[in-house]
Amino acid sequence: MGRLDGKVAWVTGAGSGIGEAAAEALAGEGARVVLSGRRRPPLEAVAERIGAAARVAPGDMAVAADVGAIVAGIEREFGRLDILVANAGLNIQERGWDKLTPEGAASVIGANLNSAFYCASAVLPMMRRQKDGVLIHTASLAGRFISLLSGPAYTAAKHGVVAMSHTLNMQECVHGIRSSVINPGEVATPILDKRPVPVSAEERARMVQPRDVADLILYIACLPPHVVLNEVTIAPTWNRSYVAALGKADS
Ligand SMILES: NC(=O)c1ccc[n+]([C@@H]2O[C@H](COP(=O)([O-])OP(=O)(O)OC[C@H]3O[C@@H](n4cnc5c(N)ncnc54)[C@H](OP(=O)(O)O)[C@@H]3O)[C@@H](O)[C@H]2O)c1
Repeated sequence: MGRLDGKVAWVTGAGSGIGEAAAEALAGEGARVVLSGRRRPPLEAVAERIGAAARVAPGDMAVAADVGAIVAGIEREFGRLDILVANAGLNIQERGWDKLTPEGAASVIGANLNSAFYCASAVLPMMRRQKDGVLIHTASLAGRFISLLSGPAYTAAKHGVVAMSHTLNMQECVHGIRSSVINPGEVATPILDKRPVPVSAEERARMVQPRDVADLILYIACLPPHVVLNEVTIAPTWNRSYVAALGKADS
């Protein structure tokens, strides 16, 4: 018997990286999983690996109408939603103030912050009726600490996600709803391909792996209803920012 038998989970950004691994982990414990992202083919590849427990629901999470249509579909098909993994996000190469355009900023804020608001707003009515539900947001260390590495738009958007998640607990706890925000450091996923400075295979191998974050997401999803893990950081032991600072301290 799986710990999530009978539960329905919706994972955004499920076609690759952390979302893909989270969908597989949740399904491995018996949840039925709905997989969203903009591109259908990667979602279908993940769904094929998972099998009958998976459904594909493509859409742009930065578009409220897409989000609403997917949640209406979940309600029609399953009549419930127990777990939201609001994980969709992106960054852009031209991220520093010297290169950032209004369009670039809008795309980063839309995919990382607006998407999280749209998804949370769309699932809350169902979860309130159930008097139960877990929202798990993938923010970032950039959502807790300000640095230039991730760029101003991403940093601001992820700070917004962290703040938003805490307000969900403050207002929705009386309805049995819990929100957790995860702040990963560097995770070896395709998002790193957008880094202005390329990341080598050796560096990626030392980072947190998607399955590590998925294990954390699964842990949170399986917590008893009276417990919420409000915010958690997960980072590589070989933390490149620490290592760089050590190099400077030695010189
Ligand atoms: N990897 C890291 O070092 C790291 C660190 C901290 C936080 N994070 C966060 O972790 C989350 C997952 O990223 P990842 O590292 O697993 O990278 P990833 O493999 O690039 O996954 C991001 C996923 O989000 C989807 N996506 C992007 N914009 C979307 C939109 N507007 N609507 C729907 N889906 C969208 C992408 O699919 P489509 O392109 O098909 O839409 C993609 O599958 C992101 O929120 C990211 O910011 C990552």
